[in-house]
Amino acid sequence: MIPISRPQIGEEEERAVLEVLHSGQLAQGPRVREFEEAFAAFCGTEYAVAVSSGTTALLTSLLAHGIGLGHEVITSPFTFIASANSILFTGARPVFADIDPESFNIDPALIADKITERTRAILPVHLYGYPCEMDSIMTIADAHGLIVIEDACQAHGAAVRAKKVGSFGTGCFSFYPSKNMTTAEGGMITTGDEEIAERARLIRNHGQSQLYYHEAPGYNFRMTELQAALGEVQLRKLPEWTNQRRENAAYLSARLKNVVTPKVREGYDHVYHQYTVRIPQDRDGALQQLNERGIGGRVYYPLPVHQQPLYRQLGFEDSLPVAEQASREVLSLPVHPALKEEELDSIVSEVSKL
Ligand SMILES: Cc1ncc(COP(=O)(O)O)c(C=O)c1O
Repeated sequence: MIPISRPQIGEEEERAVLEVLHSGQLAQGPRVREFEEAFAAFCGTEYAVAVSSGTTALLTSLLAHGIGLGHEVITSPFTFIASANSILFTGARPVFADIDPESFNIDPALIADKITERTRAILPVHLYGYPCEMDSIMTIADAHGLIVIEDACQAHGAAVRAKKVGSFGTGCFSFYPSKNMTTAEGGMITTGDEEIAERARLIRNHGQSQLYYHEAPGYNFRMTELQAALGEVQLRKLPEWTNQRRENAAYLSARLKNVVTPKVREGYDHVYHQYTVRIPQDRDGALQQLNERGIGGRVYYPLPVHQQPLYRQLGFEDSLPVAEQASREVLSLPVHPALKEEELDSIVSEVSKL
């Protein structure tokens, strides 16, 4: 089976982790600080705060911005559940605006209608590594005094006119093994706001300003030195891997037949966390056929968030037809940087038989 993702772990990663194991300092320490500095420089932000996952990056960011009970946060219904659940966990209510059919990202034209006096933030998701229309989203946010928290968990290095995602609002990244770079589990918050960075640091570590002095409620959302050591090495390799993903995507787009391939707008840098096509007729049959023939395609995501059993139980009755149709038609094909040309050819050949 050609897998949908394959973590790239080499000798450098092994050496870095072993060094930490022998150093005596395993939990959050100097390696985490170094990784944060490197990641902030990569995103073009002043600050970066490492945490234990993408989910805790989202939750910490929302809390650092003071979002909680009685507030509403506008987000995409077509995403991994954590984008919306992190809003629920603060006590606030996610409000879904439908997506654009071509980008699969929140449609800025549908955001304004969802704004009420309870709205505090917009949480766009750069799905599959393709940036949202950040200029429009920032304009709406500025006009209504809203915070922007970017779910960039799938979009390390993606950019709009050379400005990296995670530097428009407060950025949240995941380093789960399937992501474009990994620390096994892990996450990062990026921001240009010193106060938000400081609050995020407090929240991730029991609200502790000095050892055993606690000035805010907090959790243990810390990153370990082992994760940070992995992350530093992976971050150095990321640009090369991203180029390879782009080359693989271009190779597929030039050859695939029978499916609708991804479109990229001018000035938008897609990092192809996923290479996602549309198959308007019998997507599930196509998925099964590809899987049986050794192509590890997957569906991200077969049910939009507002239709998940949890959200139905919570009383969400939205009808969001573009997201619902996308859930029936999307299929992601392997695009990761470890693919060999024969594997790309076999993806093309199996898709042409659909
Ligand atoms: C869009 C999106 N948001 C949030 C997350 C949560 O990240 P993590 O799995 O690191 O908690 C993920 C990752 O799976 C994701 O893809």
